Amino acid sequence: MSTITTSSVPESLQSFLSSPKKLFIDGDWVAARSGKCFDVFDPSTDQVIGQAAEGDAADVELAVAAARKAFDSGPWSSMTASQRSRLIWKVGDLIEQNADELAQLETLDNGKPLAVAKAADVALAADMFRYMAGWATKIEGSTIPVNVPYVPGGEFHAFTLKEPVGVVGQIIPWNFPLLMAAWKLGPALATGCTIVLKPAEQTPLSAVRLGELIQEAGVPDGVVNIITGFGETAGAAIAAHDQIDKVAFTGSTEVGKLIVKAAAGNLKKVTLELGGKSPNVVYDDADLDTAIAGAADAIFFNQGQVCSAGSRLFVQQGIYDEVVAGVSEIANNLKVGSGFDSETQMGPLVSREQLERVRGYLKAGLADGAEATAGGAALDQPGYFVQPTVLKNASKSMSIVREEIFGPVVAAMPFANDAELVSQANDSSYGLAAGIWTRDISKAHRLAKSVKAGTVWINCYSIFDAALPFGGYKQSGWGREMGHAALENYLQTKSVCISL
Ligand code: NAI
Ligand code: MG
Repeated sequence: MSTITTSSVPESLQSFLSSPKKLFIDGDWVAARSGKCFDVFDPSTDQVIGQAAEGDAADVELAVAAARKAFDSGPWSSMTASQRSRLIWKVGDLIEQNADELAQLETLDNGKPLAVAKAADVALAADMFRYMAGWATKIEGSTIPVNVPYVPGGEFHAFTLKEPVGVVGQIIPWNFPLLMAAWKLGPALATGCTIVLKPAEQTPLSAVRLGELIQEAGVPDGVVNIITGFGETAGAAIAAHDQIDKVAFTGSTEVGKLIVKAAAGNLKKVTLELGGKSPNVVYDDADLDTAIAGAADAIFFNQGQVCSAGSRLFVQQGIYDEVVAGVSEIANNLKVGSGFDSETQMGPLVSREQLERVRGYLKAGLADGAEATAGGAALDQPGYFVQPTVLKNASKSMSIVREEIFGPVVAAMPFANDAELVSQANDSSYGLAAGIWTRDISKAHRLAKSVKAGTVWINCYSIFDAALPFGGYKQSGWGREMGHAALENYLQTKSVCISL
């Protein structure tokens, strides 16, 4: 691993960063009722680079009222699906037109390499809006033949209507700030819902800019409201609000459970995209060069801050040493530094808190007897940098194997045969994703069926597409994001039955 010196805030972002920070409520940019703001940090320098308005329950109240009005009586509900579709498409266009600025904001706020922000985060966000724009005009119920045995001779015409669930609260994390907003807003807008969105307090900037673009696209007032603020205040107020019909959350499993409890008050619908501890499996018949590079990318992409990261690496016995050495060599050569440096391959973690969390896991893993064949510590420099780390001699009782680390740390373990592998791979409270590297297509299919995970990647990893459903088994969540599966989260099915 080599490090690169950090650079400062791009000139082009200065005016956005120095403008007064506001919440987006009912089509207006307003200060938080409390008048408070909070600091936003550059994770590569640990310096404050701006502020965001600190929305709390009082602001959520106003945002919900605006979203209610826009849904119950505003122009959104009376608009045709085709008109809605064009507005959603326009948001995608505006994201593309402002791709450079959005990517810079993402790199500044989250730390990720600029090229990644542009090619992955921003491009996928634009694509998500366009994909969902297409669905707006294709949401339809069905005609259902009914028998009704207790009404002899009765004749009925029955059909279903698909209706938007209503006002939705959306609480998103900091690992892909703009993209997570797109995953959430796209299907909600396509189905005709109105929204109160809360970005993570670590990364509020791109959501604020997205709000401006949504306004520029002509989305009516109150349809999208954006409240920057903290989870314990603004987030909790959204989860508990009795005028919100559904809440969608992405983040920790711990907070996911709090959301479920808070939602019980009015039994709002809940979807959750939570943590993971995904197995990535390399068989001895795999193309090893590809598998080794893929295993490294599965854990080091986005500094390991990916819910579906391949954080448990299972390698077949005979090639264990070779694969561990190969992944370690890649880790040792990764260029770690500011996301604005074009040579950087891995940026800092998002926050000091996350750095401390990852450092805690590294210490625990080494104390438990795991051995670092690459990395193993934080970097002794400003910013929240940690070394890309490979831990061998890991075993299933260790916290580094059981718990989500959410950093560039992979635990490598050998396996002998399929039966042993399946039981180890599924020995987790999570079930978000899995990777399989093999040339044997039958084996790949068999394992894809046996592994309890919402996504299985074969001879690839971290492949996401707006059309492909994503979500978790077990404690990795409820429901699916993306694809037409995501629309169901935002729709009610109404049965209509007519006596003829
Ligand atoms: P978190 O779950 O606390 O934060 C995610 C979002 O939830 C943020 O917008 C936050 O403001 C909000 N939130 C926090 N507490 C809330 C509450 N009581 N009510 C309503 N909303 C609340 O995650 P955090 O603390 O940033 O990271 C902790 C761990 O969570 C990470 O180390 C990682 O393991 C996991 N995580 C998983 C993510 C995923 O994509 N599945 C994303 C972010 C974190
Ligand atoms: Mg938290």
